[in-house]
Amino acid sequence: MPYVEMKSVVKAFGETEVIHGVDLAVEKEEFTVFVGPSGCGKTTLLRLIAGLEELNEGAIHIGGERIDQLPPSKRGIAMVFQNYALYPHMSVYQNMSFGLRLAKAKKEFIQERVQEAAEILQITELLERKPKALSGGQRQRVAIGRAIVREPKVFLFDEPLSNLDAKLRVQMRVELTRLQKRLNATMIYVTHDQVEAMTMADKIVVLHEGHVEQVGPPLDLYHTPKNRFVAGFIGSPAMNFLDGEIKEVNDQIIEVELEGGHHATVRCEATGSATQGAPITLGVRPEALSPEGTGDSKIPGKIYAVERLGGETYLYLHTPEGHEITVHAPGDKVVATGDEISIGFTADKCHLFHQGGEAFGRLGG
Ligand SMILES: Nc1ncnc2c1ncn2[C@@H]1O[C@H](COP(=O)(O)OP(=O)(O)O)[C@@H](O)[C@H]1O
Ligand SMILES: [Mg+2]
Repeated sequence: MPYVEMKSVVKAFGETEVIHGVDLAVEKEEFTVFVGPSGCGKTTLLRLIAGLEELNEGAIHIGGERIDQLPPSKRGIAMVFQNYALYPHMSVYQNMSFGLRLAKAKKEFIQERVQEAAEILQITELLERKPKALSGGQRQRVAIGRAIVREPKVFLFDEPLSNLDAKLRVQMRVELTRLQKRLNATMIYVTHDQVEAMTMADKIVVLHEGHVEQVGPPLDLYHTPKNRFVAGFIGSPAMNFLDGEIKEVNDQIIEVELEGGHHATVRCEATGSATQGAPITLGVRPEALSPEGTGDSKIPGKIYAVERLGGETYLYLHTPEGHEITVHAPGDKVVATGDEISIGFTADKCHLFHQGGEAFGRLGG
């Protein structure tokens, strides 16, 4: 049975509906990430769970109990915000113990809890400092510590790492996932950053304009996106898309003709809905393309930019029709802007999308 469950949840601000009947299940002791572009409703969903917004329709349950009518303090949740929201005039200790003091917990009990959380987060030596004397990463830890001391049933995180610099973000990403496993905590984590979602989540929920697009483990979403939106959102750099039409269907092999008359072969599981002449979009990830032109089909491309990351290289190309394609290559690939190469496609690694964006079923991997 799911631990946190949203059923047909609708939320409107005035006349504007922003959450359109969301059904969602979050398992106990799992790290669930809500990911989607800015404005898709991530914060609103968290605030609905926390009780900071009221829903218009639907229900929310935690541990089998309906909680959407309860005041925030009775829901057993703790929320960590992007801007940390620490009290500037209070010490770290006072910030971390604030919720427990408010709840009139005993002094010894509070001390024990704060000490324990501080040890877990390695901020014991900072307990007497004020927030202004802390770095961004330390402040973020204090904000997390404030949530931990309350031993909530569910932790809610709203983009907690987005104010940190890139290196610290990567470090905190690892720390948070370790913390979640160590505490066996149920965590719902919101981010617009699909790399954070991929690296941290047990389960990802992809949101788009107030709808759930797809739910699944990171690699399921990567390998079998249900539609073009998920395909384009998950994976970095993003999947390449090329328009074309179906030429021929042979068992699980579909021949497509792309713009400019280039042909590509795609292997699909469910070819039933593929009809000759139907307009489609071919999707293929940069890392699934060959800069050597090897594969089941190929198209020409001219390199307009080369991005060297050291261990790997990304080539940015234009097709003769002017479409942009990104290709992954080894770090030491000898290549230069202006080169014309053959881009190789492997049939098993191509995705096909109907005009409406829905994916054709495909063979795994
Ligand atoms: N208090 C509010 N009043 C009116 N509209 C709001 C309010 N809060 C959020 N919205 C709107 O709801 C949509 C979802 O917002 P939000 O949940 O903050 O998105 P996200 O966190 O995914 O960026 C946006 O279109 C936003 O403008
Ligand atoms: Mg937000």
